[in-house]
Amino acid sequence: MRTDTGRIVHLADYRPTDFVLERVDLTFELDPTDTKVEARLIFHRREGVDASAPLVLDGDDLTMTSLLFDQIELDPARYTATPESLTIRDLPESVPFEITVVTMINPEANTQLMGLYRTNGIYATQCEAEGFRRITYFPDRPDVLAVYTINIIADKAANPLLLSNGNFLGGAGFGPDKHFAAWFDPHPKPSYLFALVAGDLGIVADTFTTMSGREVALKIYVEHGKEPRAAYAMDALKRSMKWDEEVFGREYDLDIFMIVAVSDFNMGAMENKGLNIFNDKYVLADPETATDQDYANIEAIIAHEYFHNWTGNRITCRDWFQLCLKEGLTVYRDHEFSADMRSRSVKRIAEVRHLRSEQFPEDAGPLAHPVRPTKYREINNFYTTTVYEKGSEVTRMIATILGRDGFKKGMDLYFERHDGEAATVEDFVKCFEDANGRDLTQFALWYHQAGTPQITVSSTYDSSAKTLTLSLEQMIPATPGHSAKEPMHIPLRFALISENGAEAVASAISGGEVSGDVVHLTQRAQAFTFAGIGSRPVVSLNRGFSAPVSLHFAQGSEDLAHIARHDSDLFARWEAITDLALPVLTGAAKTAREGGAVETSRAFIDVLLAVAADETLEPAFRAQALSLPSEADIARELGGNNDPDAIHAGRQAVLSGIATAGAGVFGKLHAIHSASGPFTPDAAGAGKRALKNIALSFLTIAENSPALAAAAFASADNMTDLSQALTILAHRFPEAVETKNALAAFETRFASNALVLDKWFSIQATIPGAASLDRVKVLMQSPHFAPTNPNRVRSLVGTFAFGNATGFNRADGAAYHFFAEQILAIDPRNPQLAARLLTALRSWRLLEPGRADKARAALATIEASPSLSTDVRDIVDRVLK
Ligand code: ARG
Ligand code: ZN
Repeated sequence: MRTDTGRIVHLADYRPTDFVLERVDLTFELDPTDTKVEARLIFHRREGVDASAPLVLDGDDLTMTSLLFDQIELDPARYTATPESLTIRDLPESVPFEITVVTMINPEANTQLMGLYRTNGIYATQCEAEGFRRITYFPDRPDVLAVYTINIIADKAANPLLLSNGNFLGGAGFGPDKHFAAWFDPHPKPSYLFALVAGDLGIVADTFTTMSGREVALKIYVEHGKEPRAAYAMDALKRSMKWDEEVFGREYDLDIFMIVAVSDFNMGAMENKGLNIFNDKYVLADPETATDQDYANIEAIIAHEYFHNWTGNRITCRDWFQLCLKEGLTVYRDHEFSADMRSRSVKRIAEVRHLRSEQFPEDAGPLAHPVRPTKYREINNFYTTTVYEKGSEVTRMIATILGRDGFKKGMDLYFERHDGEAATVEDFVKCFEDANGRDLTQFALWYHQAGTPQITVSSTYDSSAKTLTLSLEQMIPATPGHSAKEPMHIPLRFALISENGAEAVASAISGGEVSGDVVHLTQRAQAFTFAGIGSRPVVSLNRGFSAPVSLHFAQGSEDLAHIARHDSDLFARWEAITDLALPVLTGAAKTAREGGAVETSRAFIDVLLAVAADETLEPAFRAQALSLPSEADIARELGGNNDPDAIHAGRQAVLSGIATAGAGVFGKLHAIHSASGPFTPDAAGAGKRALKNIALSFLTIAENSPALAAAAFASADNMTDLSQALTILAHRFPEAVETKNALAAFETRFASNALVLDKWFSIQATIPGAASLDRVKVLMQSPHFAPTNPNRVRSLVGTFAFGNATGFNRADGAAYHFFAEQILAIDPRNPQLAARLLTALRSWRLLEPGRADKARAALATIEASPSLSTDVRDIVDRVLK
């Protein structure tokens, strides 16, 4: 484990390497505990670099056993090797030279899952961001691009498969029990895209013919016996390849594209050139074991990693500060892909829910940072929802400002100008400026200023002048290290909706730029006046969530109800329902805290039930409308001094009010949408199941009996329905015999499927209330739990910390204490996992003082540990600051 050195990396310190890497030849002699890595690296001194400058290569926990310079053993006086670096002095001034370095590594002991490690008997690698230096000494930074040849030697029986990047060159036997394979990747790439996989896996094979008529072999490797569960991933891959050709004009560029599913993985997946490595959770699916959400995630992540081949691999990042250049852009691309494959509006609603529940709290708390940060202590802690999801929103705003064609022109120029390069955010923005002749200087502040912009809105209608004036004011909150902010360019889509539901896009006569249906807010305060408006319209603003901002618009509930009923933009309708729900829910939380009886406004219930019962609306949309803002959403809206128990109690009371008033509607919905045909994993089928299951949960509340859910559990023929029924049982009636039976039946039925048991862990970890801590502790002793497997830990400890507000924040602080112990236990094994989990405490300052003190005390225990990893040290210091 790398313990903290306190070193901070600054963007301002960037400079190119002194030596240019020309090519890389690696030979691996694989062994579970003693793998030999021979790296032959050819360098030359960059022009203009001082002749005395040494070559300094990165390492992490490395042991070197031999070093040759131009094939001859190097005099020890000319180099210094430590586990963290290799420095070589007295190098030629202008001619290329070759370094051959041998390191010995232990994959079995690599519990960090960075570099070369073992998972279920398979050798696998993860090199982004700085894992390659755990394999060999190397200029391990993304702006060092080279062509790689890879030789892999391994025991043949245990490792029939030997895979690496690029195209397969050939292979043969090697001694009595071994064999070797050689791979060549013709595309220059940075080390973080290197991958190697060896082992014994099952194969699913297919082909794809590209737009220029080349045939590409497609292979997905999974554990033997799981091949049928990779069919959906393969289908998603082919659709992704086609979509990228059609929408972005991007063709695949090798003879083979491979995906390997592994069961121990720190993140979702990794876009290594030609050899993507995936957390098996995002590959394996069939109706019996995967939920609709699993299918949607697989489709999105397969697409995401595939799309990286152009946005990430062909054009990579100059340095890690530019991470959003590949991640924000690629998330935007996978969002657009999913929108085209599914329902665009429903997809957008899900994206915004995710952004609000994950990114907004990050942007409002101690870990807030710009989409393009300027300093880091541990880069692994910057694979954040801000870089990814807000980064995607920033890309989306460029498309909104420039329009479809303008965006496409900019993207085409980006691919043309920077293919094969390591680029920056500035390079990216410049392509859109140059292709469109538009100055995006102010817009680029989105990359540099953290914090969710707060927009205050008011509108006044002048009936004699027939004008509408829309007054907007923006405020960017202070964030760590940055208090004074400049006004930003905020594109807000809008419509003026008349009494009869007709929509107008008006142009402003004064106040600023309005193009099409977009108002461009560019000043701190701006008033846009629209003329020729016959009667007072209802303003639908930030349609489609065109800008990732918080709107404070004192719109009357009649206006919101009007939008909820009439807006042609489904997203805006959902948003209006949310805006109607939030004051109801925050009011209920306050009432519950004071011990009063919560009453739910009839007007709100009527709007909600009208939408629910409207059979002209797609089921998935109605299910979203009925999924009220979460407890975390309510906590954020309340803004501080929060009592999670009161928030929970208030929300439950509101749900009861809706359930009672809507029992008839929910009964009908449940009946209509239960009678669906055979299972299909598409969006339409998923939408029906979502609506049916939310109706079931309201019916269960209304009846206050586990009977319906128990029956649904017994009759379910797919994992979505089964897990929803189990969730309703466990969360509503944790002690009921029906629940105990269902949990036991589920455990027995899926005892051999770890990914399904993760759902069993998560469902139990999120049972509301103080008793959940003991449940989690008991589950950790389950034979199905494995403290070294990231998926298990995230499903149990992670879901408890992130998704169980009442349990995690129990008033006596016992869960914080437990959590701190877990972090300290995980950290020495897997710092990335520990640091990611720890962010669950990032919003502790929003808790009421009693809980806040206890959370702080738990954080202080972590901080006091003398041997934290850089990862955890960085998070705990920032969260406490
Ligand atoms: N590039 C990967 C993706 O988003 C994520 C890899 C993150 N790795 C890490 N060690 N933080 O597709
Ligand atoms: Zn990515």
